[in-house]
Amino acid sequence: NLPSRVTIWEVGPRDGLQNESAIVPVEVKTEFLDRLAAAGLKVLEATSFVSPKWVPQLADAEDLLKGLARRPDVRYPVLVPNTRGLGRAIDAGCADIAIFASATETFARRNLNSGLEAQFAMFEQVLAGAAGLNVRAYLSMVFGDPWEGPVPVEQVVRVGKRLLELGCWQLSLGDTIGVATTGHVEQVLGAFLEAGVGPERLAVHFHDTYGQALANTVAALRFGVSTVDASAGGLGGCPYAESATGNLATEDLVWLLDGLGIEHGVDLEALVETSVWMAAKLGRPSPSRVVRALAG
Ligand code: HMG
Ligand code: MG
Repeated sequence: NLPSRVTIWEVGPRDGLQNESAIVPVEVKTEFLDRLAAAGLKVLEATSFVSPKWVPQLADAEDLLKGLARRPDVRYPVLVPNTRGLGRAIDAGCADIAIFASATETFARRNLNSGLEAQFAMFEQVLAGAAGLNVRAYLSMVFGDPWEGPVPVEQVVRVGKRLLELGCWQLSLGDTIGVATTGHVEQVLGAFLEAGVGPERLAVHFHDTYGQALANTVAALRFGVSTVDASAGGLGGCPYAESATGNLATEDLVWLLDGLGIEHGVDLEALVETSVWMAAKLGRPSPSRVVRALAG
């Protein structure tokens, strides 16, 4: 039961650029977003309204959104951890935000300076002030945590369900450090289904550290998941998660979807050109196999 159409949730400008040691100029970020939109992507996670002390790479969020000609047919979600971030997102005219939670205690401390329980107080306040906005939820460390090791599936489902019950419309399951394999993906999705959360409420967010992201995506598609997070050229990582490398590359995903006859609306050639252009700006080649094969 593969979906006939997949929504690609492009996270390169956020997940990708948050992890660059160099600060990318705001004009380059703007052009990146414009190029991605021109390549047909309809959801572009643009930036984060987080503490600039924690993620200096995205400290220009206001400037970026002010200068960006937002297209009416494209959504530009932003990450928001707390009410401070929510206020900034509302002032910037954002309609789509995402909270980001941890499935483990250690990462809740390291990424949010909070805790597995305590993070919910922060998110409840965000949801209380977010009437009229679409709020997505991320859950990190779903398939393993670099400090805690394996993460119990029951714990993942409990935290994930609670995020949906707060009022989030979608839950994106994050393999933050890229350790998942297909059997584990089936196990987690099966546990959510058993707990009453079907694939229509879920998205998948695979990092490609161990080269499993594409295989894991197929497992999720077979389960009926039809929103897949990816980053152009495979940019990405998380500055607060050891051993996190880039996301599933959007080009690799598009190649897969084309082969399966699944609609996605993206112009692969324009996307590859964009990633080659971005790689030149960053001074190193894209890790995406498809980019390398097609850019020749
Ligand atoms: P904290 O230090 O406990 O916050 O951090 P605080 O409330 O004590 O505030 C400290 C300072 O930050 C204060 O400034 C606040 O005003 C300011 P000061 O008085 O010292 O000058 N501040 C803010 N400024 C701007 N915007 C804000 C904001 N909040 C506080 N929103 C906090 C707590 C949550 C803020 C911090 O931990 C944080 O910003 N964390 C974000 C970390 C992050 O962005 N990680 C990457 C995204 S998650 C990810 O990549 C995973 C994902 O891709 C899925 C996956 O792969 O699994 C989504
Ligand atoms: Mg991520």
